[in-house]
Amino acid sequence: MKSRTTNKFKGIKPDPENLIRNDNIDFSLLGEIVGRSVVTVDQFSREMVCALCRLAALLESKKLELTDALKGNIIITAFFEPSTRTRLSFESAALRQEAKIISIPEGARNTGVAKGESLSDIGEMFNAYGDLVVLRHTQTEAIAEIGENLRIPLVNAGNGSGEHPTQALADWYAILKWKPAILNEELPESEKINLGILGSPGSMRAVNSFLRMALLFKDNIQKITIVSELADPLGEELNQLLADAGIPWLCTHDMEGTVEDLDVIYMNSIAFLGDSYKAMDSNFKLHAGSPLKEDAIILHPLARLGELDHSLDDSRHNLYFDQAHGAVFVRQALYMAVLDRVKDIGDRINVVKENELELQTV
Ligand code: CP
Repeated sequence: MKSRTTNKFKGIKPDPENLIRNDNIDFSLLGEIVGRSVVTVDQFSREMVCALCRLAALLESKKLELTDALKGNIIITAFFEPSTRTRLSFESAALRQEAKIISIPEGARNTGVAKGESLSDIGEMFNAYGDLVVLRHTQTEAIAEIGENLRIPLVNAGNGSGEHPTQALADWYAILKWKPAILNEELPESEKINLGILGSPGSMRAVNSFLRMALLFKDNIQKITIVSELADPLGEELNQLLADAGIPWLCTHDMEGTVEDLDVIYMNSIAFLGDSYKAMDSNFKLHAGSPLKEDAIILHPLARLGELDHSLDDSRHNLYFDQAHGAVFVRQALYMAVLDRVKDIGDRINVVKENELELQTV
C-alpha cells in the first residue's frame, strides 16, 4: 500500500511571490560577487540582499525554472563542526541545480587535519578539486588560514563565534517575504518594525550576522531591543555600528515588559565559545502563552534548546520553519551569483506574464 504524508506545514509560510510582484528586478548588482568569497555580511549592500532574495523568490515560487543552472560545477562542503541545516541546505541547493558535491562532514576526522595537516595546505588541495568551497569551522580564524592558499571562492557557513552570513540571508529572506514593504525606501513610522533580539550578538555568530544585516534595513526599523544575560552583549564593534546607525536601541536583562511590544523576535541560545558549545540566554523562554503581539513573528536559526517551546510550532508566530526551508533558495541564488550563472539566465526565464514581471539580467 502506498503511504502518503498528511502532515501540514507548521507555522506561517509567506508567499515568495510577495517579493517579485509587479517589479523590475535588477540582477546586475550581483556582478559584484562573481568569483568572490562570501565571508561577512559587511560585503552586502541592501540592494544586493534584495536582488538575492528576489532571485530566491523566483526559484522558490517556480517562476524561474533553472534546474541545471550550476551544471559543470563541483562544490566542496567542508564541515569541521556539526550541522543539520547549513550543510544539508547547501548540498540540496547544489543538487537542485545539477552541481556535483564533494561532502566532508566531520572534517577534523575525515581530512589530513586528523594527522596534523594545516588548513592552508588543505586549501591548496581544494583548488584542484572543486569550483567553490562552503566551510564551517569551530575557529573564527579558520577562514583566513584556509584562504592563505585558496584560489576558488569560499562561502563562510559559520566560523566559531564570528559570522554566519548566509544564515542572515535566510533570515532576511523570510522577513522580506513576510513584510515586503520593508524593501520600500522608508515606511511611515507606524509601519516600521519593532525588532527584538533574545540573545547575545557579540557571542553568537548567527545573531551577529542577523544584526549586521538588520542595519541595512535600518530606515524601516523603529527600534532594536537586545535582551541578554550579559552586561555588554555586543562588544565594541557592534556597539559602534549601532551608534552609527542612528536608530534607537537598548540592551536589557528584562524580557518581561519587552516582548509584548515586539513585531519581530530573533532568538538563539547556543553560542560557540572557546572550544565548545555553551547555552546562553536560555532563561529567556517563549511559549504559546507568552504575551506576544497578535501578529508578531519569531525567527530562530535553530538548533533550539528550551528557549523556544514546541507549543509555538503550530502558531502564527512561527516563521522559523519557513526561515529554515527558504535557506535552500537563497543558497541557490548565492551559488548562481558567485559562480557567474546569473547572466546566463537570459531567455530561459519562465515567468508568468500576468504578473508583468520584467527581469533585467546582467
Ligand atoms: N542555522 C544553523 O546554522 O544550523 P546548523 O548548525 O544545523 O547548520
